[in-house]
Amino acid sequence: MREEDFLFKNPEKKILDNGFVKVKSPSNIALVKYWGKSEPQIPKNSSISFTLNNCFTSTILEYTKKENSSEKVNVKVIFEGKEKEAFKPKIEQFFERILIYVPFISDYDFVIKTENSFPHSSGIASSASGMSALALGIMSLEKKLNPTLDQEYFLNKASFLSRLGSGSAARSIEGPLVVWGRHPKIENSSDLYGTIFPFKIHPVFENFQDTILLVDQGEKQISSTIGHNLMQQHPYAENRFIQANKNLEKLTEVLRSGNIKEFIQIVESEALALHAMMMTSNPYFILMKPNTLEIINKIWDFRNKTDLNICFTLDAGANVHVLFPKHEEREINMFISNELISFCQNNKYICDSLGEGAEIII
Ligand code: DP6
Repeated sequence: MREEDFLFKNPEKKILDNGFVKVKSPSNIALVKYWGKSEPQIPKNSSISFTLNNCFTSTILEYTKKENSSEKVNVKVIFEGKEKEAFKPKIEQFFERILIYVPFISDYDFVIKTENSFPHSSGIASSASGMSALALGIMSLEKKLNPTLDQEYFLNKASFLSRLGSGSAARSIEGPLVVWGRHPKIENSSDLYGTIFPFKIHPVFENFQDTILLVDQGEKQISSTIGHNLMQQHPYAENRFIQANKNLEKLTEVLRSGNIKEFIQIVESEALALHAMMMTSNPYFILMKPNTLEIINKIWDFRNKTDLNICFTLDAGANVHVLFPKHEEREINMFISNELISFCQNNKYICDSLGEGAEIII
């Protein structure tokens, strides 16, 4: 689908009464990383992620018909029961960006009530789940205005709008494995929205586990958006984009064949390549903490000793996602409890696994 296919059509010229919708949308963890973009939120390489199950944002979107018409979309944001002015600028910018695709939003005032299933200051990126939940809420309004929308269009446009809020959010609408960014070997992949990985996944990857070790729950020093921008002048950028696209091609084969040793190699290399880009940007920065490295080394030792299929990945922070197949969970969970939890801030961690994507609740 092309960009113009996402322009709004309202054949029945309907107007909605005041009301609300409730949705929930998960976070995701990239296996091949998106790091570097051009306007408007177009990724420099294709990426693929696992959709998570237990880490999600629930959002109630209340809409009230405006008294006087104006282009400005008025929003009030209530986060975990308290008004949150700090979230407004990002949401207002999002609404401005999507206005041409969903012009009906300027007919309403919105109250957005939102909460996360994961602890607020856990360092887990909430923009993917938060922005995709909001985009899905807006698509439920579009569906009320135009009930003839088919499911494929609905999901593609929900992801398309999510992308304009936060790139990685494009991969949160569906699951369990989503590709975003055009790749010649993946049919129907697009820079504009995420699509489900189109091949049959080997059973070893079904119900894969992700234990998130919360190494550092503080605010990030550098936002992802700044990090992406630093890729524009980055000396290694072009090779990094080529590497990511090659890794996605290799991973596609591995996900089908079940070659888990090769999976581990690609996934860990992607995590370290992402952080290598941060360390070689100008200005440079490091988001890993000493305990991130302690955990990585422990995982490598344990894997060498046991030959179990445990590996790690990282997002733009110090937390470590520990990935492993379901059938090895007994030994690996024991190892995590005995040897890794002590490196987490306040011993906090989250057990997660693959999920199916976002849902409309009401
Ligand atoms: C490291 O999606 O948070 O998690 O598009 O500027 O909102 P914006 O960036 P964001 O970047 C996420 C980067 C990453 C890797 C990934 O999820 O692919």
